[in-house]
Amino acid sequence: MKPDRQLAKYLASLGYGSRKEMEAAIRAGRITGAGDDLRFDGDPLDPAPGMVLMMNKPAGFTCSRADQGRLVYELLPPRFLQRSPPLSTVGRLDADTTGLLLFTDDGNLLHRLISPISSTEKTYEATLARPLEGHETELFASGDLMLRGEEKPLLPARLEITGERSARLTITEGRYHQVRRMFAAAGNHVEALHRARFGALDLGKLGQGNWRLLSEQEISSLF
Ligand code: URA
Repeated sequence: MKPDRQLAKYLASLGYGSRKEMEAAIRAGRITGAGDDLRFDGDPLDPAPGMVLMMNKPAGFTCSRADQGRLVYELLPPRFLQRSPPLSTVGRLDADTTGLLLFTDDGNLLHRLISPISSTEKTYEATLARPLEGHETELFASGDLMLRGEEKPLLPARLEITGERSARLTITEGRYHQVRRMFAAAGNHVEALHRARFGALDLGKLGQGNWRLLSEQEISSLF
């Protein structure tokens, strides 16, 4: 393939436009620089495939097109939705849950992180409808808590009670509505839920609704 056609194909895979549009953009001189410093209209190119980004998800946005409401993808640059391979969320957060949500276009990395045998810790801060009773820490750590409708008990989880109606819960699994269902099994109800950590990563100063790319080092720290 001629270098320009190859470049047009690459730019199209990053979501900048169709191959034809990218060939025209190249002819018009909109692509400048070389090697690792290619620019489109003067701006550095979006990351190559293999990217991972974190978002501080606001409430009211869903991770799945199957759910009602605005999608978390609306908070990213529109061309990220046109990328191939596609970008997807690493697991899901409920529409009402806020906090650390990862996205990647790396299928391998995605599967390693969401696999049932992944031991990556996820930490949630929960605000509860009723005061904690004190027995929850032992119940969640026991390794034999069964969620309704399931056949396998939950792996042990770590609960730190941080207030009368607030707690920090660290889990390694990612079952459907897991945190809400765990507190329901303990006779309580989650009123607000925020994911504060994913593996070694926390949100730092990232504001709600904002996102940023992870460095290579941060990506390796996930495992
Ligand atoms: N557990 C839940 O119940 N909801 C989430 O969004 C994440 C974990």
